[in-house]
Amino acid sequence: MTNSKYNEILPIEATIPADRQSAKRHYGVHPYFTRRPHNVVRQYILHYSKEHDRVLDPFGGSGVTAIEAFLENRVGIQNDINPLANFISQGIIDLAKGDIAEYERALVKLKEGCQSKLNELDLLSEGEIKAFTKRFELPDNLELPKNADVRTYRELFSYRQLAALAFLRHSIDRIEDTYPKKAMLLAWSASLAKLNRTFLSAEGRAESRGGSSIFSIYRYKVAKEPVELPPWKTFEERAQNVIAAKAEIDKVIEFKRRTNGWSGKFEIHAKNIDDLSKELGGKVDYIFTDPPYGGHISYLDLSTLWNCWLGSMPSRKTRQAELIVGGDLDLTESAYVDRLGKSIKACIDMLKKDKWLSVVFQHWNTAYFDAILTSAAQAGADLRAAVPQIGDTIWSMHKKKGNESVLAGELILTFYKTGKPMKKGTQAKGFDIEAAMAKILSKADTTVLYGENLFNQLILAAWHGQAIGSLHITKNDFIEIVKRHGWEYDAAKHHWVKHQFETMLFG
Ligand SMILES: C[S@@+](CC[C@H](N)C(=O)[O-])C[C@H]1O[C@@H](n2cnc3c(N)ncnc32)[C@H](O)[C@@H]1O
Repeated sequence: MTNSKYNEILPIEATIPADRQSAKRHYGVHPYFTRRPHNVVRQYILHYSKEHDRVLDPFGGSGVTAIEAFLENRVGIQNDINPLANFISQGIIDLAKGDIAEYERALVKLKEGCQSKLNELDLLSEGEIKAFTKRFELPDNLELPKNADVRTYRELFSYRQLAALAFLRHSIDRIEDTYPKKAMLLAWSASLAKLNRTFLSAEGRAESRGGSSIFSIYRYKVAKEPVELPPWKTFEERAQNVIAAKAEIDKVIEFKRRTNGWSGKFEIHAKNIDDLSKELGGKVDYIFTDPPYGGHISYLDLSTLWNCWLGSMPSRKTRQAELIVGGDLDLTESAYVDRLGKSIKACIDMLKKDKWLSVVFQHWNTAYFDAILTSAAQAGADLRAAVPQIGDTIWSMHKKKGNESVLAGELILTFYKTGKPMKKGTQAKGFDIEAAMAKILSKADTTVLYGENLFNQLILAAWHGQAIGSLHITKNDFIEIVKRHGWEYDAAKHHWVKHQFETMLFG
């Protein structure tokens, strides 16, 4: 956005193809859950905010929103209750500091001190490795979540992995320069994801290609035949990725300096969103956020792998504030729906008037959409766009797992804060799902349709018809209705196709 006024902005209506891997500052530095594609986030930030604006993500995760805002001369504001999330985002931001040559020197020194010792671990007996490990500080042996395959933290590692990680950590702690040290710690933390017994090699590919069950099935599943990757090589690759990310960040900032000047700023908070809104009420120019989707991922439970060893375990109070269904504390769905609505209100309270808010969401449960849309209207924000983001590789990977019953990709709902609360009915009687679907399907101007688009259109039709609160539809009902209207699911292409005879009869 350049000179136009905020109220003159025309909302983004088209899907932006996701580019997940091209930015070294996000891809390959440190894994996190459901990282949003940086190019999509960046385009939303550029469209809905101006330079020097305060751009917030209250559910910031690995920090994509705040980092992209920072690099686009805004004040990027990161918030998350998960210490791991803030460790990653602050770690990436700090790569803007210090000289890259110092980082490279720190890695060379680590290599001199660690590589051969780590390789020698392979030759030592269990007893010798245990004796070696005694010289270093080990993480607390905390209890893991109930659904983990092993009961305690240290059981997540072989004794060799524990020794290697403890020795590396000890060596990193002795680096003197602040920013190279932080960068190496970020790389060490990223290596934790590969150097533990939840790591599963991808079939038919190099041993090192694969990932932790934490990110694939969202649980601490210990591999039947764990693969032990070489610790130095695993760490070094991560450290090189971190240094490549620094080179990229330096380049972006240098380019800005030489062209329109550099003024990016970064702020970080570690608050439950409700408390954040008390501090940032009316102070934010744009929000792009991606709240947790119900019970899919228990972020805090799954981050114990890192938070425990980083010494940043969240308190019970923080864990109770997590916006999820289930998890080790068995948080209820009704509390989730209530707090999801309150989170949206908190977002709108933090926004200045006449500013924009984008919320990324996707779920089969229409009550979750009801909570978001109703709460936004009551807090004085008007829904101006709902754009599906589907079709990329991650989307098809998810689709392969369960075909038409899986909703993958996301819907980006964008609101404009008018400041005028709207009382929108949600329980209108007589909303006919079958008729609404018939209308949506008959309007389709193609013979190919994506389930996500259809479902999202149904939700919006119910919302506009003031009936979202009474829209109760299951996955199966939805699938049956689409089939009854003459559409067939193409499992290979993950979309619905209109039957030939229907096309011939009705054009
Ligand atoms: C879907 S993730 C965001 C991922 C992010 N879009 C990214 O690109 O990395 C949702 C985040 O919300 C955080 N969270 C959950 N409950 C919260 C709360 N009550 N207040 C603040 N953050 C919370 C989780 O720790 C998690 O990192």
